[in-house]
Amino acid sequence: MFSALKNQIAFFGQFRQRFETTGAIAPSSRFLARAMTSYFASRDSAVPVRVLEIGPGTGPVTDRIVRLLRPHDVFDLVELNAEFVRILHARFQSEPSWVSAKAQSTIHQLPVQEFASEAPYDFVISGLPLNNFPAELVTSIAETYFRLLKPGGVLSYFEYMYVRPIRKVVTRGTERIRITAIDATLQGHCNRCRIRRDNIWLNTPPAWVQHLRGLE
Ligand SMILES: C[S@@+](CC[C@H](N)C(=O)[O-])C[C@H]1O[C@@H](n2cnc3c(N)ncnc32)[C@H](O)[C@@H]1O
Repeated sequence: MFSALKNQIAFFGQFRQRFETTGAIAPSSRFLARAMTSYFASRDSAVPVRVLEIGPGTGPVTDRIVRLLRPHDVFDLVELNAEFVRILHARFQSEPSWVSAKAQSTIHQLPVQEFASEAPYDFVISGLPLNNFPAELVTSIAETYFRLLKPGGVLSYFEYMYVRPIRKVVTRGTERIRITAIDATLQGHCNRCRIRRDNIWLNTPPAWVQHLRGLE
């Protein structure tokens, strides 16, 4: 309980210092974390899988992933913020379900668009605040998601509800151009590859979780 509060405070501090990359005032709720990991949780095979979490922050989604890992799974985390990386390392040292997953988990501190992996992933789970980024960066990150995803693998990412539809109407000039371009990029991928969208009302703010399948 105390450490959850400490993580909330740390997250809010990073929101104030690095709004563009943190992108939220509070860590994801357990309801959002559950939706983000629903495909990973319901995998039906006994074969070990590779999981990538992008933008874990203080670790609310990570906390669910580590509980779902099986012995030979591989878990990579990519986070650019040094303070969040410090918190994640501390959790892998101190919290029982994290300690159990430590040997199969690796934290990489860098922007995901620069991340290279020796093999693609069965599950890519991303908490990046895409609506805050320049349109070209969103295009590059979306390409990165699919570069890192196995054909047939599942990409799950969240976005806060109605942010782009509302901003497309209420903004003008360069901001409208930016948000319209991001919308076109993400909508294009959803049109081609979306499996499902979940509505998560119990989160601050409410969020959509998009699940997409990597093309075979
Ligand atoms: C909205 S927060 C989500 C944090 C956490 N997943 C959650 O659900 O509470 C976005 C996270 O993405 C990280 N981030 C932003 N841009 C990134 C990038 N290009 N590569 C890796 N991590 C990034 C931020 O530092 C932050 O931890």
